[in-house]
Amino acid sequence: MGKKIKLGILGGGGDSLIGVLHRVASQINDNYEIVGAVFNPDFEANVAFAKEIDIPTNRIYKDFDTLVEEELKLPKEERIQVCSVLTPNFLHFPMAKKLLENGFHVICEKPMTTTYEEAVILQDTLEKAKTVFAVTHTYTGYPMVRQMREMIKAGALGKIHKVDAQYYQGWINSIIHDKAKRSTVWRLDPKKAGISSCMGDIGVHAFNMIEYTTGLKIKSILADFNYLYEDNQMDVDGTVLIRMDKHVK
Ligand SMILES: NC(=O)c1ccc[n+]([C@@H]2O[C@H](COP(=O)([O-])OP(=O)(O)OC[C@H]3O[C@@H](n4cnc5c(N)ncnc54)[C@H](O)[C@@H]3O)[C@@H](O)[C@H]2O)c1
Repeated sequence: MGKKIKLGILGGGGDSLIGVLHRVASQINDNYEIVGAVFNPDFEANVAFAKEIDIPTNRIYKDFDTLVEEELKLPKEERIQVCSVLTPNFLHFPMAKKLLENGFHVICEKPMTTTYEEAVILQDTLEKAKTVFAVTHTYTGYPMVRQMREMIKAGALGKIHKVDAQYYQGWINSIIHDKAKRSTVWRLDPKKAGISSCMGDIGVHAFNMIEYTTGLKIKSILADFNYLYEDNQMDVDGTVLIRMDKHVK
């Protein structure tokens, strides 16, 4: 194999859920090498983790701004080419925007942004940057999901007139029902998760799967969020009515 793509990683430290999946995925075809990172906001933990996974520590930076600043000083052929944004939701937009503005390609975790306004700005930034911007809606990589899309496209299901998507996830249940624990996770903190927890976390996957498998576009939605407890600021469940192209609902 020729030269590997130089990958930078933001977030995804040893304490994270998704970091290992990105590292494994980047190795599957052996065409990426991790050359720089801020795995963790704590510098010592950051360096210790880099050592643990056998990545040279000379380009492990104390924070995101330093990563961009220092990488731009390197000759282009040595510099990070694509950077993965695996941090909590509120950081996706500022990090992705600054990376695009500075010529890096971006692999961004979902949700892409936490507001519509940010998404519009990011789209505009991307159009000017002319680099690659990929959002990791993981499920579109599964063969069965691709098979669904191909079958629908080939007309195996006939005309689609109703779509029913459900996504149940239980790992956060014990936290949701415990008042003290509710304040300990960023996914239930609006400053870090954004305007929605459940919909931002897994609703976006359902949204993406509906559009991806049917080939139709969602035009409007009517959402009813459930917060479950008076003191809980974020949705932990929800139901969404959708209207799509061609009168599909
Ligand atoms: N595509 C998928 O299927 C999928 C699955 C899980 C999570 N995710 C997304 O991945 C993101 C991370 O989720 P997670 O479950 O791994 O979260 P997590 O809380 O387990 O890990 C977050 C990581 O980011 C690091 N971090 C926090 N602030 C940082 C900063 N300022 N600079 C650098 N690193 C920082 C933390 O130290 C930690 O290592 C979320 O946006 C989530 O929606 C996507």
